[in-house]
Amino acid sequence: MPGDKSVSHRSLLFGALAQGETRVAGLLDAGDVRATRGAVESLGATIREEGREVVVVPPVRLREPDDVIDCGNSGTSLRLLAGVLSGVPGLSVLTGDASLRRRPVRRVIDPLRRMGASLSARDGDRLPPLVVRGGPLRGTRHLLEVASAQVKSALLLAGLFAEGETTVVEPERSRDHTERMLAGMGIAVRVEGLAVTVAPGRPRGIRVDVPGDISSAAFFLCGAAALPGSEVTVRNLGVNPTRTGLLDVLGRMGAKVAVANAREVAGEPRADVTVRAAPLEATEIGGEIVPRLIDELPVVMVMATQARGRTVIRDARELRVKESDRLAGMGEALAAAGARIELFEDGCAIEGPTPLRGVAVRTRLDHRIAMSMAIAQLLAGGEAVLLDDVACVATSFPSFFDLLDSLTPSSPAGAGGEGRGEGRRG
Ligand code: S3P
Repeated sequence: MPGDKSVSHRSLLFGALAQGETRVAGLLDAGDVRATRGAVESLGATIREEGREVVVVPPVRLREPDDVIDCGNSGTSLRLLAGVLSGVPGLSVLTGDASLRRRPVRRVIDPLRRMGASLSARDGDRLPPLVVRGGPLRGTRHLLEVASAQVKSALLLAGLFAEGETTVVEPERSRDHTERMLAGMGIAVRVEGLAVTVAPGRPRGIRVDVPGDISSAAFFLCGAAALPGSEVTVRNLGVNPTRTGLLDVLGRMGAKVAVANAREVAGEPRADVTVRAAPLEATEIGGEIVPRLIDELPVVMVMATQARGRTVIRDARELRVKESDRLAGMGEALAAAGARIELFEDGCAIEGPTPLRGVAVRTRLDHRIAMSMAIAQLLAGGEAVLLDDVACVATSFPSFFDLLDSLTPSSPAGAGGEGRGEGRRG
């Protein structure tokens, strides 16, 4: 599996803030992480490849960028940078593609302003481009309304530059890669229940070993669970407990899940995970598990079409403000493919099992919709699922279709050569 996207972003960005080099093994090479790389280079960091490692050489201090920073499709780049740039003297402008320019930024603007930062954005501070004027910050205690690792991380990063401690309290625990990596870099990080506190300071460069991305593996794990006769093993997969909601759901739905060789390397747990197909049962997904599988929900929706009974997903309103409105996008695509799906403001209900059929899909600049519906094709009895855009998968998983082809030799997608691209592109 390609390297974890969240850990990859953080290794470049935190490495750029550090004192001394950061060496990264297994960095994800994909569009979103390239956006973070471009951003930290424009702030004065140097990044070079050395064999299989990527080395981040930080500047003495971050400098004002001499152009607008383009974060492409990457919300993580934009939001984490907003936190860092709030503490860096000078003016920065953060923007991105048409998808990113529709994603909310008030969630970082309001709390960063309370720390003394000066930020503004388009449409009454709602949408990027986002303008940040960095300056002195004061440590603040923040109570977040939604669990968001991007917002939490932005505030903790601003806290490194602030006077006094910064605390972020979440309603549920979101992924904790920032806390783990900053602690590994020598920053004083305290976790008490749902509250995380950092003291100001400069991280020191470290070695990062990026585990495989469970959000990318999810397509294959769910595909294997739903497609009779399948089995998939993913080695060196990141199994940080704030990310493993999918493994819990797979188990609850009756898939055979085996976790072997569990270990912790460079502060992040990992293991070899095998999923085997089995008759699937519907389940209910809501509450604290949601942030632990938020990015996997589109492909869970695909899998749920094959489960017996009514799968209900609740408390997932955040899906509406991802790279696209994923509830609307997946709801439209799955309904057209023959699924029995009802949408709610914060989730959906899917009645199964239903056979799926070929369908033309609007991917909405959303890599996870494209990959989820490519998995739906495996369940469509040989009919073609036509994606209007496959380029978007390169934001997180450029090798996705090659890997899918190598695992599914008898599917239409796996025929190789002709047929394959045409089918997908419609
Ligand atoms: C991410 C956090 C999540 C997730 C995103 C990556 C991160 O967003 O959806 O793909 O790396 O911090 P939230 O801010 O909603 O947690």
